[in-house]
Amino acid sequence: MSGTLAASGLTTGHAPFVEEARNRGELYITQPYGEYSKENHEAWKALYQRIRPRWERYANNHFLRGLDALGLPPDRVPHLSEVNRRLQPLTGFQAKAVSGYVPGFLFFDCLRRREFPTTITIRPHDRMDYLPEPDIFHDLAGHVPMHTEKAFADTLVRFGDCAHTAVEITSYIHDRQERGRRLTNIIKAMSRFFWFTVEFGLMRGARGTCAYGSGLLSSYGELEHAIESEEVQRYPLQMEWVINQVAEIDHYQPLLFIVDSFDHLFSLVGELERWMKAGRLSNVAPGEPAVSEGDIESFLAGR
Ligand SMILES: [Fe+2]
Repeated sequence: MSGTLAASGLTTGHAPFVEEARNRGELYITQPYGEYSKENHEAWKALYQRIRPRWERYANNHFLRGLDALGLPPDRVPHLSEVNRRLQPLTGFQAKAVSGYVPGFLFFDCLRRREFPTTITIRPHDRMDYLPEPDIFHDLAGHVPMHTEKAFADTLVRFGDCAHTAVEITSYIHDRQERGRRLTNIIKAMSRFFWFTVEFGLMRGARGTCAYGSGLLSSYGELEHAIESEEVQRYPLQMEWVINQVAEIDHYQPLLFIVDSFDHLFSLVGELERWMKAGRLSNVAPGEPAVSEGDIESFLAGR
């Protein structure tokens, strides 16, 4: 974009560049860095500076080391290319800009290739606290520092393996409706597991219970609430519970699950896959998250 024109901004809900890409059917895009407005950079700076002390207090050590390793700028939206130059040599992961929601199979398959679909828009300055959809602060500051840790990165790859396993074990079902029903249950179970670990997971550590889930690490209010509040139930992760637990997205989580380490988490994804193969994810409890037709289609088309 010409330097003489004012940037039109990449604000959640108002980002013409991203909306046009989506309208053209382009899911994977490049980060048009010059489009960020002054307010967009101010929003990043305000979010980063506000949460930084809480990270030091409540984030697990791997996250804090990841922040240092990536050198995320505190005062402006980062360039994905800068982040990737530091990230890729560590675990092979890369943040990859997307224009919006990535359907289930495509999302997990990206992880298998060590690509993390990354939202490039940022929340409006006057809506710092709650946003139902992800933004670049959630994706880059909440998720990506964890991708510098080898066992965690390998865990994400295993989610991708699980998605392929789901395609394989349902491919022999010729009845379209039954195959869709089976996939809906498996996707729901995988999404719940992902939600209660990668998004909202807690881990035991030398400093007590800390957060590694990016939904917590990108939320100033919920990060403290998750660790300190007496209203939150915290339990060791149990497979039968997590895959059947309704995941509610519109308020602070009342129930969180704890793992011992990322090696432990990695082994739990292996257990998830074994349960899937044994048919134990085929009839999980109904309720959130909803599985869309687009998610199912992505698995039906998956290879
Ligand atoms: Fe997320």
